[in-house]
Amino acid sequence: MTALDGLVIKILLRLGFKGLNSVKKYLAEQEAKRPLSPEEEKQLFPHHRPDSDRVLVVRNLNVEFNVGKGNVVKAVSNVSFDLVRGETLAVVGESGCGKSTLGKAVLQLPHPTGGSVNFLSKELTSMGKKELRDMRPAMQMIFQDPISSLDPRLPVSEVLAEPLRVWNRGNQVEIDAKIDELLGAANLDPAVVRDRRSYEFSGGQCQRISIARALALDPTMIICDEPVSALDVSVQAQILNLLQDMKDRYGLTLIFISHDLAVVKAVSTRVMVMYLGKVCEIGTPDEIYQNTKHHYTRALVGSVPIPDPDRPLSGNLIQGEPPSPANPPSGCRFRTRCPMATEKCAQEEPQLREVSVGHFVACHHPIAE
Ligand SMILES: Nc1ncnc2c1ncn2[C@@H]1O[C@H](COP(=O)(O)OP(=O)(O)O)[C@@H](O)[C@H]1O
Ligand code: SF4
Ligand SMILES: [Mg+2]
Repeated sequence: MTALDGLVIKILLRLGFKGLNSVKKYLAEQEAKRPLSPEEEKQLFPHHRPDSDRVLVVRNLNVEFNVGKGNVVKAVSNVSFDLVRGETLAVVGESGCGKSTLGKAVLQLPHPTGGSVNFLSKELTSMGKKELRDMRPAMQMIFQDPISSLDPRLPVSEVLAEPLRVWNRGNQVEIDAKIDELLGAANLDPAVVRDRRSYEFSGGQCQRISIARALALDPTMIICDEPVSALDVSVQAQILNLLQDMKDRYGLTLIFISHDLAVVKAVSTRVMVMYLGKVCEIGTPDEIYQNTKHHYTRALVGSVPIPDPDRPLSGNLIQGEPPSPANPPSGCRFRTRCPMATEKCAQEEPQLREVSVGHFVACHHPIAE
């Protein structure tokens, strides 16, 4: 035994099992964040596109909530995806499947429990407060409830001026000009809107103001969390059109979270379907709608109303309630509600694999042509 071996044994004895487990956990976390070569990444995450201009790469993201009495809610489990500059990735799934938690975890609100979030080639999960703060202008979020996301005490001009002042984006004249530009871009008349407060506006107008605020700091990526779910159907299309216009005008990259597949179809370039914290299927909207491969996606697609009185409702509507994310089923998490579940589905977790170009499904028995 060398002197070094002796030292290592002494340190290990000092640390005890608990300490050893912490060291193991730390090493595993560092491994999860290690930069991968394009070949390695393609092999480990076949649905990633390492040879593209990506703004975001998320690997094995986990978010768990300790809810007391030893119960842990597994809200997001090993979710991996990437986001190519200029695209709109829709994240869809039933309420409670982890969409909002995923969006917030990308922004480190709060830091996820595990995994890697690489934004503009920087690892966000390893950053301290100061470094993260410097990244904030580039990544913004728009929320579901536009009225409560705006401070009712402030006039609209102040709502928009606040981030510009905090980030030293010009003198008062420049800030005023920027506010007018943002309001104009959001199809609001600055002369009418500037001095009024959020409670004087409709939900649609408040969402326009929220969008203008999200754009104030020239972000690269915006995460839109159910941005039209709280709005009247008649207003939804206007806000979706506005988001599309803004995206083109300011060269944005979007993550668009929604429980509503009908909304997603109109806006997305890629769709990621989630169920109980896991990714089921990823593909273009056309592939997801017309060449559906996962049984859960089929149930979601089947529940989208079609404005045709002669067309019957699909018989594939999803049955029952989702299981608790504190105690998810083994194997495929959808198996307790899936009409095609087999023994294999209970034993083995299905991994994402390519079924046609750019279309990936995590299912042992995907839907045949
Ligand atoms: N802060 C929290 N503490 C405990 N559980 C939470 C917390 N936030 C979310 N959850 C749980 O995590 C799961 C995913 O929630 P969420 O991300 O809000 O779903 P979605 O946005 O898809 O409706 C749900 O079961 C929810 O109850
Ligand atoms: S893996 Fe099995 S349980 Fe899961 S969706 Fe496919 S067939 Fe259904
Ligand atoms: Mg949500």
